[in-house]
Amino acid sequence: MNVRFESSSLIEHSAEVIAAFVHQDKAIFRKEIQALARKIDVRISAAEIGDFKGKEDDCCVVYAQRGARTRRYIIVGLGERKKISMERYRRAAATATKRARSFKAKTVAIFVPQTARPFDQTVHALTEGALLSLYRFDKYISKKEENSGDVESLSIVSIERSRLKEGTAAVRKAQIISEATALARNLGNAPGNEIYPQTLAEAAQQSAERSGYRASVLDEQEIKDLAMGGVLGVSQGSAHPPRFIILEYGPASSRPVVLVGKGVTFDSGGISIKPSAGMAEMKMDMSGAAAVIGTFEAVARLKLPVHIVGLIPAVENLPSGSAIRPGDILRHYNGKTSEVDNTDAEGRLILADALGYAETFKPQAVIDLATLTGAVVVALGHHATGMMGNDPRLMEKLKSAGETTYERVWELPLFDEYEKQIKSDIADVKNTGGKWAGSITGGLFLKKFIGNYKWVHLDIAGTAMLEENGDYTFKGASGVGVRLLTEFLRRWK
Ligand code: BES
Ligand code: MN
Ligand code: ZN
Repeated sequence: MNVRFESSSLIEHSAEVIAAFVHQDKAIFRKEIQALARKIDVRISAAEIGDFKGKEDDCCVVYAQRGARTRRYIIVGLGERKKISMERYRRAAATATKRARSFKAKTVAIFVPQTARPFDQTVHALTEGALLSLYRFDKYISKKEENSGDVESLSIVSIERSRLKEGTAAVRKAQIISEATALARNLGNAPGNEIYPQTLAEAAQQSAERSGYRASVLDEQEIKDLAMGGVLGVSQGSAHPPRFIILEYGPASSRPVVLVGKGVTFDSGGISIKPSAGMAEMKMDMSGAAAVIGTFEAVARLKLPVHIVGLIPAVENLPSGSAIRPGDILRHYNGKTSEVDNTDAEGRLILADALGYAETFKPQAVIDLATLTGAVVVALGHHATGMMGNDPRLMEKLKSAGETTYERVWELPLFDEYEKQIKSDIADVKNTGGKWAGSITGGLFLKKFIGNYKWVHLDIAGTAMLEENGDYTFKGASGVGVRLLTEFLRRWK
């Protein structure tokens, strides 16, 4: 897709569809709509506007007379002026773009509202909303959807001619981040027979080559040599052997931020098998890994001045004669043991090895992302990622990046009192914590395996897998984490 920033006026610009925005407040609405009509040289009649009042995501289409450079205008409501936010711009741009696509428009222009500030952030938000809303996972559909074409060119247009450089940079940045999010979505949506540990590793290697970062992959023997008992144990029931993927970007001279991603390419539950209804969703159980790969792609393409290491334990969790059993005891990378009370609590078993291994990089901070517990979906639904950790300042930074990107995180406590729930009589820790506070006991399990570093655990089980479409998100894999972490790393000192 061709995406660019341009500066010109509405009347000069030509595209198959031009989108413009108005606020809902009565007086402002009237002024804005009149100004718009003047600029595009059409009489926008009361009838044409109809019930359109500029409410958020409301939109109306008006047509210019024959001979005009652009015939079709989509006017999208932004809601009340005082409630405007970057998220509103994202959603409004998404509404406009999806509508334009339904007209099979190939060239679409989005006008930056003159009131919009900060300018670069608004341009970023509009571009991001538009591009994310055009995402489709249709590679396996032979006959593509009839009534929706593909937008081939998107222009973000502003009248402010002095801002060409700023606007161009913002559009480029938003495009890179949107493409990296789409990569994470594609990996999450890909079925288990396409993405298994080896092909996940290949996807990471291809991304590394494309974007300019380093990737290496440990095979089963090398994982054995490192004594990563969790990774070996979880994968031993599957015909697909495990992989341990290591990514690196930036100058090795400084201590890195380490990103760890859960890479369970399919989670059947193993011997503690899941019910069949809904099990197919568990092809997305590598969404943490997808977020890490997507973040590396974005950070490398943006050439951010940071040093990051990515660690992805990649396994498939299946039952078979060689699978781990409930009651088995595993020894992890750092020497600690865990009792496998339930083979479906597999994510923590493989992350335990990765978190121990992270210590060898002397990290400034470690952030893990994992579709770890169903309990976090019960607690927070699909609108917030569960956050736990040992460093309030690090968590504050993630929270702030979450507000900016609208990939919001919410802290859950790791109080000591919960710990007795994961106490084992026969090993250092047990991989289940009973009925209550399942996300917290999952977090506390991981905490047993961290090194001497600042650490945050993000439980993305609810935010990575969506049940319905949103303005610029879709049922299926959301690609959550890419925008959050890229923003977090952009601000990293
Ligand atoms: N991958 C699942 C968690 C999950 C559930 C992700 C729903 C997305 C949606 C994880 O491996 C799992 O099965 N967790 C168990 C843990 C339990 C056995 C302690 C769970 O949440 O039920
Ligand atoms: Mn599981
Ligand atoms: Zn899982």
